[in-house]
Order: sequence, then C-alpha cells, then structure tokens
Amino acid sequence: MGRSSATPKWVLPFMLVLGSLASQISALDGPLPNGDFEATPTGGFSSDAIVDGPTGIPSWKSNGTVEVVEAGQKQGGMLLIVPQGRHAVRLGNDAEVSQDIKVEKGSIYSVTFSAARTCAQLESLNVSVLPASQTIDLQTLYSVQGWDPYAWAFEAEEDDVKLVFRNPGMEDDPTCGPIIDDVAIKKLFTPDKPKNNAVVNGDFEEGPWMLANVSLGVLLPTNLDEETSSLPGWNVESNRAVRYIDSYHFSVPQGKRAIELLSGKEGIISQMVETKPNKPYTLTFSLGHANDKCKQPLAVMAFAGDQAQNVHYTPNSNSTFQSANVNFTAKAERSRIAFYSVYYNTRTDDMSSLCGPVVDDVRVWFSGSRRNGLGGLGLRLGVALWVFVLFLV
Ligand SMILES: *[C@@H]1O[C@H](CO)[C@@H](O)[C@H](O)[C@H]1NC(C)=O
Ligand SMILES: *[C@@H]1O[C@H](CO)[C@@H](O)[C@H](O)[C@H]1NC(C)=O
Ligand SMILES: *[C@@H]1O[C@H](CO)[C@@H](O)[C@H](O)[C@H]1NC(C)=O
Ligand SMILES: *[C@@H]1O[C@H](CO)[C@@H](O)[C@H](O)[C@H]1NC(C)=O
Ligand SMILES: *[C@@H]1O[C@H](CO)[C@@H](O)[C@H](O)[C@H]1NC(C)=O
Repeated sequence: MGRSSATPKWVLPFMLVLGSLASQISALDGPLPNGDFEATPTGGFSSDAIVDGPTGIPSWKSNGTVEVVEAGQKQGGMLLIVPQGRHAVRLGNDAEVSQDIKVEKGSIYSVTFSAARTCAQLESLNVSVLPASQTIDLQTLYSVQGWDPYAWAFEAEEDDVKLVFRNPGMEDDPTCGPIIDDVAIKKLFTPDKPKNNAVVNGDFEEGPWMLANVSLGVLLPTNLDEETSSLPGWNVESNRAVRYIDSYHFSVPQGKRAIELLSGKEGIISQMVETKPNKPYTLTFSLGHANDKCKQPLAVMAFAGDQAQNVHYTPNSNSTFQSANVNFTAKAERSRIAFYSVYYNTRTDDMSSLCGPVVDDVRVWFSGSRRNGLGGLGLRLGVALWVFVLFLV
C-alpha cells in the first residue's frame, strides 16, 4: 500500500504545475463554501438562532424554518447531533437550504453530506439539482454516532445549478427535522474499462468525495441509474445503503477505496458487464474485513450471470482479505454481477453500528476455451438463446 517516497527532485515542480492545472479544471472538488455551516450567520450564533432572512447563513439561501444548531445544544432533554465542528443546520417542516453552484454542463457530480435525524419519527431529506432529485430515508441508523455521510449524484443540465436540501416532512412536532452538515461535491469520471476486464470501476477507486476527518465512510443509498451513480459503473439495487470506505480509516484490499456491504440481503451492489453469449467467464474479487471490529462470520453471496456462490471469509492472520472466484457461461451480451452480505453484521464494540464484508478488485474476464464435455451443450443453449433473442427483436 504505502507510497514510495523516493521521488526524483525534478518531479516535484512538474507535479505542482499539474496540480494547479487540475485544480483549475475541477475547482469545485471538495467542501462547498460554508459547507460545514461554521461561518457566523447574520445576527451571530445564538443557542436558538432561527434564520428568517433568505441570506442569514453565509453562502446559503434558506426558506422556511432553518435553524443553526450548536454542539451541546439540547432540546427536550435530548442532545442535538452536530456531525462535525461546532455547527450544523436543521430543516423544519417543508424548509430548505440551497446554494447556487457552478458546474460543467453534461458532467456527473456527486454531492457528499452528513445527515442526522432529530426525532424518532420517519425523517427524510430531499436532495435535488433539478430535474434530478432523490429522497433519502434517514430512518435507519447505520452508525451508533447517530449520523452518517451520504452521497447522491446528478448530471448537470446547465453550467449554473441550484443544490437544494429540503425536508419534505410534515411532522406533528415542528421542531423535529433532519440536521445536515459537511456538504461537499466532486465531479465524477467513469474510468475506462481496463484490458481483459469487463468490469467498470471494479477497484472502486472512483467515487464520491470523502470527508477528510470523517471515519464513517460514505453511505451510498439506492441508485438504479448507473449513468448517474456516485459509484461510477455500479448500481445500489436495494432499499438500504452500502458503505464506501477509504484506506485511511478502514482496511481496504487494494488501492484506497472499497465497498463494505451492510444489512444482509438489503444492501446489494450490481453491474451489467459486457459479455459474449455462450463464452466462459470468471468473476474474481477480493473479500475481506474492514478492520472495524465487525462481528464475524463474514460472507458474501456473489452472482455472475446465472451462477450464485456463497463465499465465506476465512480469516488469515497475514492478510485482511482473500480472493474468490465464480465461473460462469455468459447467456447474453450483458451479464449481471452482484454482491450482498450473507449475514446482518454489527460491530462487537457497540453492538449496533452496521458493518459487513468488504468487496474490492472485481474483475470479469474471458476464461478461455475450456473444451470440456459441456461445450457442446453450452453451444446448443447459446444458439437456442440467439434464436429466442432474434424472435424478440
Ligand atoms: C418558499 O417556500 C414556499 C413554500 O414551499 C414557496 O411558496 C415560496 O415561493 C418559497 N420562497 C422562495 C423565496 O423560494
Ligand atoms: C424533491 O424536491 C423536488 C424539488 O422541490 C421535487 O421536484 C421532487 O419531486 C422531490 N423528489 C422526491 C423524490 O420527492
Ligand atoms: C481535521 O481535524 C484536525 C484536528 O482536529 C483539524 O486541525 C483540521 O482542520 C480538520 N480538517 C478538516 C478538513 O476539517
Ligand atoms: C503467513 O505467515 C506465515 C509466517 O510468517 C507463513 O509461514 C505463511 O506461509 C503465511 N501464509 C500465507 C497464506 O501467506
Ligand atoms: C473456476 O475455474 C478455474 C479453472 O478454470 C478453477 O481453478 C477454479 O477453481 C474454478 N472456480 C470455482 C469456484 O469453481
């Protein structure tokens, strides 16, 4: 893992030039202006500063009951959660905060933000950059801290867009409502398909912005549109989220990023990969633990084409992961690969934070001309399928 420190001297100025170029191209990557809500609102901070004006919070516009909450602030004997720093905002019924942002038309962006709910009721948050929007359900607590970072992606249809967080709820108690903090953005790119591997972003290195000081990873909620996914190439098929993790806070089999599967069958990632009908393929992947005190056993159900395989993680003191494979014969031009956790795991230290097996380094490759007894049968099935497909067309 560790990077080599033996960098030749001439490389440094060169890298600085490249670095400044890169920062001009994607000037937006990172926290939004006052994305942490720490800048002093007009009228100053007070323990119950309700923002009335549309410009009360620097860099943001608000509408409805938007409150700047402070760490340590209590309400009805309950401590309000402030994810990071001293301040965050709470959105009352039907209230919203928004910020105008400059983006590149046609590009895909992922927004990362921290969110918490304040009352026991169902709370949710509508994140939008019109015409795209998603309502994120805050009912499930994934970590015992009571808040989590989430990511949501959109395609920019203009160069100037408005990012809006809205509380769609109409609670009986108007002081209930979600708290948000740490809003950041990242322009995504879809990595090229590597040679001899049909999986896009199989190493999960491209994904949402990760907050530097946050050790909770980033939750990726349901997303069925692979074109606008915070995790390029991948869908989150389930109602529950999966966690995007980094090597600074978790054990990651390869590179700096990986996926931790949560909530058993309720957390499924998938991708449709290009295949040639009737050809043999092998799916390989790394299966490991995140080093987050997750209670064993850990196992995944891996799907590839029409095959499904249950793979148990067998701890080996030398390594935090093992590699696994599934062989399959493609039946169509596109084959689905998918993973979910076999168990519903929680951490051993708090018994409630959700955790699970780590998947990384996913590859699907043509596994050659295995001329065995099944070849003929496979060919006939393939021809039958082709005829079937032709009939459909
Ligand atoms: C604020 O929200 C209300 C109700 O949703 C809406 O009618 C009004 O136009 C909004 N005001 C602004 C300035 O956006
Ligand atoms: C979220 O809010 C936007 C804008 O207010 C609205 O158009 C959209 O329908 C809402 N989305 C969902 C999923 O409720
Ligand atoms: C991260 O935490 C350190 C120490 O608490 C602090 O100095 C730094 O400003 C924080 N960075 C961010 C991006 O919040
Ligand atoms: C694990 O480490 C031991 C001792 O260092 C070594 O003998 C063994 O071969 C290693 N096992 C694997 C799977 O690398
Ligand atoms: C897949 O096939 C390869 C040989 O082509 C074999 O080594 C491997 O064990 C097979 N995997 C499974 C899970 O059967």
